[in-house]
Amino acid sequence: MRIFLAPMEGVVDFQMRQLLTSIGGLDGCVTEFLRIGEQRLPRRVFTKLCPELLQQSRTPSGTPVAFQLLGGNAEAMAFNAAKAAGLGADSIDLNFGCPAKTVNRNDGGAKLLQEPKRIHRIVKAVRDAVPSGIDVTAKIRLGFQDRSMGLENAHAIADAGAQQLVVHARSKNDAYRPPAYWDELRPIRDQLNIPVIANGEIWSPDDLQRCADHSGCEDFMIGRGLLARPDLALAIRNPDAHQAWCWEDILPLLLDFFRKGIEQYPEKYCGNRLKQWFMYLQRNYPEAELFFNQLKRLRKRDEIEMLFAHHAKEQKIELAS
Ligand SMILES: Cc1cc2nc3c(=O)[nH]c(=O)nc-3n(C[C@H](O)[C@H](O)[C@H](O)COP(=O)(O)O)c2cc1C
Repeated sequence: MRIFLAPMEGVVDFQMRQLLTSIGGLDGCVTEFLRIGEQRLPRRVFTKLCPELLQQSRTPSGTPVAFQLLGGNAEAMAFNAAKAAGLGADSIDLNFGCPAKTVNRNDGGAKLLQEPKRIHRIVKAVRDAVPSGIDVTAKIRLGFQDRSMGLENAHAIADAGAQQLVVHARSKNDAYRPPAYWDELRPIRDQLNIPVIANGEIWSPDDLQRCADHSGCEDFMIGRGLLARPDLALAIRNPDAHQAWCWEDILPLLLDFFRKGIEQYPEKYCGNRLKQWFMYLQRNYPEAELFFNQLKRLRKRDEIEMLFAHHAKEQKIELAS
C-alpha cells in the first residue's frame, strides 16, 4: 500500500510538505500548482514553488515531491514540463480536477474533463516532452457536471502514456460535499493497466479500509485528513501499535510551522496558513477550537506568538521560546 499527501493550494506548501512528511508513513507528495498560460516560465518560478528541486526533489525526510502543472495548452504544458524535468523534478503531475471558477474560466482544471480528447493531447504532449525516466501522472475528478466521464478520461490519460492516475471520487459539481463515491472508482481501477490511486474523504484508518473495500484500490491519496490528523498515515500503517497523537504532540508543530512561515510570507498573511490548518484540526482536537476562536481575529506576528504562549500555559504544554 502507498499513501500520498494530496496537493492543496494555499496550504500544502514547501513547509507543510516538510512537516507532514517528517512525521512519516507517506510515500510521496505534490507541489501546489503552477498555472501554465502560453509563456515559458523562468527557472525562479519553478524553484520558488518547489524548493525541493534543489534537493533532488525530496523533502528533507527523503519523500519524493511531484511537480504539479495546471493548464489547457498542450504545447505550453509540454515545454514547461520539460523545464521542470530539466531542473530536477522527480515526476510531473497534471491537474485536471481543480474546481475553482477562476481556473476553470481560464481553460484549466476540472473543466477539461468535458473534453477527454484534449486531456489525451495534453498528457501525450507532456509525456513526449519529458525524459522517459521521469513519471508523468495525472489527477482527475469523476467528471465535471456529473460523474459519468471518469472512465473515459481515465482511459484517455492511460492511453497517452501516463504512469499513474489519482481519482478524486466526486464530480466538480459535487465540490467537497460528502460522500465520496468510492464504488465508482472500481471500474477505473479494474480497466486501467496503470496504478489508480483512490482519493476523497479518508479521515481515519477505518475510512481507508472502507475505501479499499469499495474501490478495490491499493494506493491512496489523503489531503484534509492529514491536516486534521497529522499522524494519520502512521495510524493506518500500525493500527495496533500506534498511539494517537494528543494536543501536546501537535501544538509544537503548529508553532514551528507559524515561525517558519514568518520567514517566508509578509506579516499580514503569516497567520492565514495557520488558520487554514486549524480549521481542519478542530475536527479531532477540541483544543484547536479554543485556540482558533482567539486566533481568527489576530493578524500580527507578536499577537499570535503571545497567543501560543498563553494557550500553552493554560494547557500545561511546554513550548520552545
Ligand atoms: C484547500 C484545498 C486546495 C486544493 N488544491 C488542489 C490542487 O492544487 N491540486 C489538486 O489536484 N487538488 C487540489 N485539491 C484537492 C485535493 O487534492 C483532494 O483531491 C481533495 O481535498 C479530496 O481529498 P481529501 O478528502 O483527502 O481532502 C485541493 C483541496 C483543498 C481542500
